[in-house]
Amino acid sequence: MKVGIIGSGGREHALCQSIKNSNKIDKIYCFPGNAGTSNIAENIKINPEDFENIKNFIIENEIDLIIVGPEKPLVDGIVDYLEKFKIKVFGPNKLASQLEGSKIFTKKICEKFNIPTAKFGIFKNKNDAKKFLDQNNFPTVIKADNLASGKGVYICNTRSEAEIAIDEIFNGKFGKADELLIEEFLNGEEMSYFTVHDGKCFKSFNTAQDHKRVLEGDKGKNTGGMGAYSPSRLINDELEKKIINKIIKPTLQGLSEFGTNYKGFLYTGLMIVDNEPYLIEYNVRMGDPECQTILPRLRTDISDIFLACCEEKLNDVNIKWSSQKSLCIVVCSNGYPDKYKKYIEIKNLDTINLKENDYIFHAGTERKDDKLYSVGGRVLNFISISDSFAKAKENIIKNLNTLNWSEGFYRRDIGYKVIK
Ligand code: AMP
Ligand code: GLY
Repeated sequence: MKVGIIGSGGREHALCQSIKNSNKIDKIYCFPGNAGTSNIAENIKINPEDFENIKNFIIENEIDLIIVGPEKPLVDGIVDYLEKFKIKVFGPNKLASQLEGSKIFTKKICEKFNIPTAKFGIFKNKNDAKKFLDQNNFPTVIKADNLASGKGVYICNTRSEAEIAIDEIFNGKFGKADELLIEEFLNGEEMSYFTVHDGKCFKSFNTAQDHKRVLEGDKGKNTGGMGAYSPSRLINDELEKKIINKIIKPTLQGLSEFGTNYKGFLYTGLMIVDNEPYLIEYNVRMGDPECQTILPRLRTDISDIFLACCEEKLNDVNIKWSSQKSLCIVVCSNGYPDKYKKYIEIKNLDTINLKENDYIFHAGTERKDDKLYSVGGRVLNFISISDSFAKAKENIIKNLNTLNWSEGFYRRDIGYKVIK
């Protein structure tokens, strides 16, 4: 069987490696992939936004199954487009992808089905939004409605910070904005709950907690994610039941009232307050770096899961997990998430002696003339699974010390809540 993966990050390299481990797969293509995927797959230089050329390549090369990694092509409707040509695709359609594409779409479903989430108001202009601040408590959360790649969310401690956020969003900092959200600030601990769906049924795809801020102590700017660990320290059977019954099932009911269902990974971003889950956001894909963190614990052939989802047979698949702990530390280029240099050589990667439960997944890397270069803000992911988070981290730090890449940095405190 031939499989195609759309995307070029650490998540896609981890997906590519898991698919490679399946004995059913003869060939993998990545659109466009990175230096890591080029070692195990064929990278195809077609932009994930160029649906037509991707479709032509899939048909010409008789690719059997397509996995879509990132949200942008999903929200833009790549699944609907490829399915028109009878191509098998794992991922949600354009309408279901509104769960990530529009925070207001999701909030409306929450309102209708009483899904626990922060109290919120939707505002169409600066004046109404600012007037609402008169009766508001601080901190408060202000969000742009459109896809803003993790940006577009402001936690405001004062009224003047809130006014700046409102002005920036309506002035188009994150693209054209017709509406914005003002939300109650939820004080708890975040966790991510993943599920995999075939349109008819869904199964848990494990849990993780990530570190979104760039500096140690969870301080500084928001990033795509500086590291993660799996499983979450917060998960228990009672909490899992609440997440499924109070949040995920009613959301699927909401989608069915819009005349659609859900196929693909669903990432439920939660705030846990006294063992009660509150929905913060949905993402219609795996998390990055959560995917790199979770997949090494998977003990079921991932291609069986993808195929079952495309054939509405997920019910027949038993998804098994290792009980070991997984930790991931992301190596970034100096300057990230602001300006950083590109095309800096990474010299020592091949000298790292990876042990059986250690993994390195590439993100922003490119190979040129046999040399490895960084081309993105998040560059490499170092993962290890072990009997304890502390041991996993020790293994990672050993590998990071061998890398010794002076042009990059990483957070040394990933997992501090689970490592004493
Ligand atoms: P989002 O893009 O909606 O996930 O928001 C980005 C980050 O902002 C989240 O991961 C949280 O850390 C934080 N956040 C968003 N909404 C809230 C809220 N209502 N209360 C507290 N923190 C929030
Ligand atoms: N790590 C957060 C995300 O993938 O959105």
